[in-house]
Amino acid sequence: MSSNPASPTPVKSTGMHVGTIRAGVAKKDPILIADGVRRQFGGLVAVDVEHVEIPRNAITALIGPNGAGKTTFFNLLTGFDQPNEGKWSFNGKSLAGVSAYKVARMGLIRTFQLTKALSLLSVMDNMKLGSPDQKGEKLWASFFPVLWKKKEIEIETQALNLLKRFNLDTKQSEYAASLSGGQRKLLEMARALMSKPELVMLDEPMAGVNPALTQSLLEHILNLKSAGMTVLFVEHDMHMVRHIADWVIVMAEGKVVAEGPPGEVMKNPAVIDAYLGSHQEIDLGTITGRISIPKSGKEK
Ligand SMILES: Nc1ncnc2c1ncn2[C@@H]1O[C@H](COP(=O)(O)OP(=O)(O)O)[C@@H](O)[C@H]1O
Ligand SMILES: [Mg+2]
Repeated sequence: MSSNPASPTPVKSTGMHVGTIRAGVAKKDPILIADGVRRQFGGLVAVDVEHVEIPRNAITALIGPNGAGKTTFFNLLTGFDQPNEGKWSFNGKSLAGVSAYKVARMGLIRTFQLTKALSLLSVMDNMKLGSPDQKGEKLWASFFPVLWKKKEIEIETQALNLLKRFNLDTKQSEYAASLSGGQRKLLEMARALMSKPELVMLDEPMAGVNPALTQSLLEHILNLKSAGMTVLFVEHDMHMVRHIADWVIVMAEGKVVAEGPPGEVMKNPAVIDAYLGSHQEIDLGTITGRISIPKSGKEK
């Protein structure tokens, strides 16, 4: 569990865009498309995204300085907040006005920057809440107790398999409150998978995670892609972004200011400006440096 051999360099997806790389560039197979999505809080325009497309079955990092509007954009896309204007679609279906619960059922699930694991529920109960079949519990149980029992066993088996994958199975009966910050992040990711999503949006999955768990979290994110899912994640750690992202989208002051493959985007002056203001001599790779990724042959 603890000994992680140097992880191999992940296989990056390439050629996902159409035409010249620039902010808002079209994708060959976008899973999510947003157009003119704008959210204002009083006089502050938190999000003002003209056009953005998220490539399917790839790992896209959404980066940008604090206050850039990343979390607000996540909230809008997943139905946890409503924009003042704009439209966006998932798998070609409009999501405008669709509630967070329905968005999740359609296959788009997100985790939160601050974990929402319910402290006074057990780890297993937290997992069960992630199941889309949980909603009808009372109705099912009252009319068809036998069928419900069968469904419940199915849900528990699925939960236990996921907990095993995330090394949390031994904690299944403990309160979520007893988990470390990193374990809660793992629990949140495991719970998100209960609904068998197609697009998983992770808001700062590494924040507050003990270095001992970061490698395992990284691998879990890479596994989502191998399992056919699409990942969009917010992250400040540029080492991690470089290591696992196929594509990077940069937000600043509510707008998408640049996008592209990680190596190229991080050399873009607009990106360096957005992050560093006048301190352009600093290497973006050292901004956080919370985790160290074994260097691949190609990376400098
Ligand atoms: N509910 C809210 N009410 C007022 N202002 C908000 C609210 N949520 C976010 N903001 C503001 O919107 C801007 C973008 O915030 P946020 O989306 O959290 O940025 P990021 O996640 O990129 O750090 C910030 O200036 C923040 O203070
Ligand atoms: Mg945020």
